[in-house]
Amino acid sequence: MKTKVGIIGAGPAGLMLSHLLHLTGIPSIIIESQSREYCEARVRAGLLEQWAADMLIETGAGARMQRECMTHSGIHISFGGALHDIDFLQLVGKQVTIYGQQEIVKDLIAQQLANGTPILFEASNVRLEGINGSHPAIHFTQDGQEQTIECDFIGGCDGFHGICRPTIPANVLTTYEREYPFGWLGILAQARPVADKLIYCSHPNGFALFSMRAPTLVRYYLQCTPNEDLNAWSDQRIWDELETRLGGTRPLERGPLIEKVVAPMRSFVVEPMQYGRLFLAGDSAHIVPSTGAKGMNLAFADARVLSQALSAFYRNGTTNLLEGYSRTCLDRVWKAQRFSWWMTRLFHSLPRETPFDSSCRLAELEHLVQSEAAAKSLAENYAGLSIDIKI
Ligand code: APR
Ligand code: PHB
Repeated sequence: MKTKVGIIGAGPAGLMLSHLLHLTGIPSIIIESQSREYCEARVRAGLLEQWAADMLIETGAGARMQRECMTHSGIHISFGGALHDIDFLQLVGKQVTIYGQQEIVKDLIAQQLANGTPILFEASNVRLEGINGSHPAIHFTQDGQEQTIECDFIGGCDGFHGICRPTIPANVLTTYEREYPFGWLGILAQARPVADKLIYCSHPNGFALFSMRAPTLVRYYLQCTPNEDLNAWSDQRIWDELETRLGGTRPLERGPLIEKVVAPMRSFVVEPMQYGRLFLAGDSAHIVPSTGAKGMNLAFADARVLSQALSAFYRNGTTNLLEGYSRTCLDRVWKAQRFSWWMTRLFHSLPRETPFDSSCRLAELEHLVQSEAAAKSLAENYAGLSIDIKI
């Protein structure tokens, strides 16, 4: 097989890259290790910055999202038994969109297949060759057959555990990492959301987040240990703990649980995000702790920058945008890392937190809800820093 851009991974980064390339007339092929059903069922975050929702709509991939999403003009913050409102629309004129990542994945997969872009699911033993030269190749096995795709460029969109990043010689890469001494226990449940917006709670027992997917589907999280034993958490205990951390600020409706998971928290960046003809995008190059809801938005931002650079290359042979890819992406990545780390530190209680540290956190939360300047900084980062989304 031959194509211009070979893309490894059918997550938000790979699918968005393929979608944007198609719009500028650049063909691509996506190679994915999992089945289509698996990719479409994987529950992840579900919050889009304003520009990311706008980009889906403006590029013709947002029709179902527009029908089914929930638009939020801000968030609530709960601590000390009181609920506070941070109104993004008033502060920075932007909103955020609630729409599950797996719904976006479904929409983009359907659109790409309809466009005629091949997505080769259940590919195994994926290897890259010649990323340093001008004719890289992707080898893999599908249905017991050895296959090869020859291409001009490779999009390394295969997530944190993929093979693209490890293909780059280790001495070329610098890794920045922070592990947190806690994780999130997440549930998906059939119940009406506790409020009209997300609630971020700081409580002496730990952080809790009240999010949602639909008018009768909620996504709630509890701070827990990084390898918390789920068996110790009955449905009843989860609901009771959510209620405790909500601190009586809203009545909590309970309902049947559909999913229960524990996820670790990590900050991770690799620099540079490119090597020869291989360009990393999304989780393969960086991970943010979930608190700021930046994962999918960063994946879309990388795909945007890469599609612009590739489109300039094929249109007029210029390579300056490709050469600057990593630098351009990392500018946004580090701002998102800074913000995600800040939100995480502000809302979570550390094991063995000193009274001095918890008093400082409380003072910062109070400042955040009392100072328009502080609230504006949160709003500006949460609703999304500006980005050029013109095709
Ligand atoms: N070969 C082919 N595909 C692979 C391989 C491989 N060796 N390894 C992993 N993959 C696939 C995974 O199965 C997955 O479908 O690559 C895809 C990567 O998708 P994501 O992990 O969703 O990463 P990304 O597209 O960068 O999106 C980032 O996803 O993890 C969330 O919270 C994160 O919202 C963020 C977003
Ligand atoms: C989610 O709905 O899954 C979600 C929302 C906001 C976050 C993290 C996760 O900060």
